[in-house]
Amino acid sequence: MGNLTVNQLKHAALIDRAGEALSSLESAMDRTYRLGYHLMPPAGWMNDPNGLIQFQGVYHAFYQHDPYQSKQGPMHWGHATSLDLVHWEHQPVALAPSETYDSGPAGGQGCWSGSAVDDNGTLTLIYTGHVDGRSPEEVQSLAVSVDGIVFNKPDQNPVIEDSPDRERFGFRDPKVWKRGELWYMAVGYGKDGLGKAIIYTSENLRVWTYRGAALESDGTMGDMWECPDLFPIGGGEHHALLISPMNTGSYKNLYVTGRFDYEACRLEKGYAELIDYGFDFYAPQTLLDDQGRRIMLAWMNIWGAVAPEQELGWYGAMTLPRELTLEADGTLRSRPVKELEVLRGEAVQASGIVLRDGEPAGVAGVAGQQLELIARIRPGDASEVGLRFFASADGEAYAEIVYDVAGGKLSMDRSRAGAGDGGVSVAPLSLLSDGTIELRLYLDRSSAELFANDGRIAMTNRIYGKADQTGISFVARGGEAELVSLDSWRLNGIWG
Ligand code: FRU
Repeated sequence: MGNLTVNQLKHAALIDRAGEALSSLESAMDRTYRLGYHLMPPAGWMNDPNGLIQFQGVYHAFYQHDPYQSKQGPMHWGHATSLDLVHWEHQPVALAPSETYDSGPAGGQGCWSGSAVDDNGTLTLIYTGHVDGRSPEEVQSLAVSVDGIVFNKPDQNPVIEDSPDRERFGFRDPKVWKRGELWYMAVGYGKDGLGKAIIYTSENLRVWTYRGAALESDGTMGDMWECPDLFPIGGGEHHALLISPMNTGSYKNLYVTGRFDYEACRLEKGYAELIDYGFDFYAPQTLLDDQGRRIMLAWMNIWGAVAPEQELGWYGAMTLPRELTLEADGTLRSRPVKELEVLRGEAVQASGIVLRDGEPAGVAGVAGQQLELIARIRPGDASEVGLRFFASADGEAYAEIVYDVAGGKLSMDRSRAGAGDGGVSVAPLSLLSDGTIELRLYLDRSSAELFANDGRIAMTNRIYGKADQTGISFVARGGEAELVSLDSWRLNGIWG
């Protein structure tokens, strides 16, 4: 290990302790709602994805983590690696709160969210040290590693010691990228009731210059923007900014596309929409991989949710990795990455099935809780079409996806599906030009991720049905519709 400083030894000891705590939590864990093919913590708590990067050919996903309990405590960074974005291997906890700038006596504290870059062969994490009640409460810090597994915090920390203003509401979640010779950092910020993404630049990741706000709320977009991610997409100066705005009342995530001016460090706002219309989608972050793909993961939960898994020794999961692309009209598409096809097992295909008014129709061989379905439905003269899933044998319990043809609205209702929160997620959606809608659904025991019309909208929810709620059926109401085609696969698990 070479010559370690006292601080590095202290950090290493805390990492070992975290690993031991995690093993004992894991051995006592109840696996009832564990997912089959999503990234989850081995045990304990998970929130935001952090430090997403492909480093020396390996995908790394770090995440906000409490290895001691299934609720949020002093935040560590959990760590997993993958060669294909599908199969994940847990790695030792990467960061533990260990220094005065990232740990404190009580309350919210720890190594809060941030990002990762490849600094000439050194995997460098840039994160927020948060300590409730300290002044300043939030600073930006680094951790470095040459092997991508063991991280040390350099003596220069914190590299940004204070926010640009004395009075502010939040200064955290640095996302760093490089353009030419300069590093750029977007930081989540709130001032005078307006969320903002503020920008710093640096030549060496150690000394940073404040450059102003890339974008701020127009008054409807929340008072603090958590986890901003600003990145080029679609060529030229086109960029997208992902934000998780606090206190909007109505929504919890947003993307803005437009041109980013690197001189002025300003984003010219073009188009804005929700990234995902479900309840359980927060703090998305992206990476750029060696195929030039912009890949996003998000936390597949939300603050304040009733989550039955929390009682069982763990909490939290990541969404499937989704590739983002920019359309000419400024909208983003999000599609599950192609690699996920390796999970496909037994397949069923069907076509030309008539869906009669009010008579849910099953398809032979299509049932389960770990499935991928691609359904194309032509509403015909029906006013609503869709599908039921996680349905009990007696038909009493189920979740339902419904497309309201006249209203142009797609919804997912989980209020009759089981434990956990209920509620209906709703998204605007038009029929495709051939008069059909396309629904692509991934079910994984306690999650449902829906992509409609080739990634035009996404909708993600955690749903806690019983293990025998395996029924799937297609529905039409107010008239007759057609299930034009169905492709379905049982999906294999990744956790053995
Ligand atoms: C978003 C967030 C971040 C913060 C982290 C703390 O979910 O609140 O702003 O850094 O979680 O765990």
